[in-house]
Amino acid sequence: MYVCMCFGVTDTAIKNAVEEHGVGNMRELSRVLQLGTECGRCVQMAQQIIDSTIIDESLFKEVC
Ligand code: FES
Repeated sequence: MYVCMCFGVTDTAIKNAVEEHGVGNMRELSRVLQLGTECGRCVQMAQQIIDSTIIDESLFKEVC
């Protein structure tokens, strides 16, 4: 699913940025993917994806 139409960024790309580049907030995500630097409409959804990916990762680490 596309989250940022201005830069063609998908939810999968955001999850990968969190998991592979250690992105933890919108400022870091904008630096990696440029997302949110044009119209800004994607910022709220992108933040939710960052948050849910971090929660998923921490649950996974507790299991292992
Ligand atoms: S939709 Fe992401 S900056 Fe416009």
